[in-house]
Amino acid sequence: MKIAILSNGPSNYSTQRLKEEAEQRGHEVSIVKYKDCYVSIEPNNNLVYYNGEPLERFDAIIPRIATYMTNYGCMIVRQLEMQGEYTLSRSLAITRARDKLRSMQLLAKNNINIPRTVVSRDSANIDQLLDQLGGAPVIIKLARSTHGNGVVLAETKKAAKSTLQAFYLTNESGTNILLQEFVKESAGTDIRAFVVGSKVIASMKRQSLDDDFRSNLHKGGSGTPIKLTPTEEKMAVRAAKAMGLSVAGVDIMRSERGPLVLEVNASPGFGIEKVTGRNVAGKIIEYVEHNAKRTVHRDRVGA
Ligand SMILES: Nc1ncnc2c1ncn2[C@@H]1O[C@H](COP(=O)(O)OP(=O)(O)O)[C@@H](O)[C@H]1O
Ligand SMILES: [Mg+2]
Repeated sequence: MKIAILSNGPSNYSTQRLKEEAEQRGHEVSIVKYKDCYVSIEPNNNLVYYNGEPLERFDAIIPRIATYMTNYGCMIVRQLEMQGEYTLSRSLAITRARDKLRSMQLLAKNNINIPRTVVSRDSANIDQLLDQLGGAPVIIKLARSTHGNGVVLAETKKAAKSTLQAFYLTNESGTNILLQEFVKESAGTDIRAFVVGSKVIASMKRQSLDDDFRSNLHKGGSGTPIKLTPTEEKMAVRAAKAMGLSVAGVDIMRSERGPLVLEVNASPGFGIEKVTGRNVAGKIIEYVEHNAKRTVHRDRVGA
């Protein structure tokens, strides 16, 4: 097969691993930097160009769209979908997953347990909002946060109110702000389940190194392999499905009322390979081999 990996970082570990595994399995791989692509839009003749030439046809596209370039990257993916290409992750699914509020709405609609969450445009009704969450401490989160930046723990009602006000004040782009129950039982730890198709192919526990409540590896957290309970495994697969993603990193917290899904990442890192020794890249290529030929192009999520 001819496979294109859409990635701005050809030397990224994930890009390298996907290329290596695909080539080992006899595929021809191109790495396409989507930031250097452009689209010409004409009636009946939209085309993606790369290095001044129309982009060649591929049997499968593997998008690895960075969060800082979601809009542009997804625009390119969307164009390729319109040209009839098979893409491992659909542009709509990637866009959806990059918005935490939209994700929470979808997960809840699909009856998947999440931390109690409220959203408001107004800090005047803070008492009522906090009551809904069972009182302080609470988590305040920008809908577009990544790597733990934009996630704040407010210990008291006063802190929650002033943080919320500061967020609204600097929030010119109109990003939604979530208030969330602080799951204190698992402060500083969460579980990353890597889903491919309808299976969890690797899972790890992440722990913050200092006393940070955020366990993101980018914040210096460390990972160890962990075995999921059957409930957690099912939950991770259902969460990926609810988001319309065939490859996803599902983050789960263990709480007193059972596992809760924190977020679903559309372009999960491959650091989990090093932690668990699992061949994540190989599983993804295998999935592409089985699915690229089939033309299931409809998005059935409905939100
Ligand atoms: N409701 C919560 N209760 C406790 N810890 C949380 C909660 N929400 C987030 N965290 C911690 O903060 C980290 C970052 O939050 P997350 O929602 O995953 O945002 P990001 O996309 O920035 O990683 C999580 O990995 C978790 O450790
Ligand atoms: Mg996260």
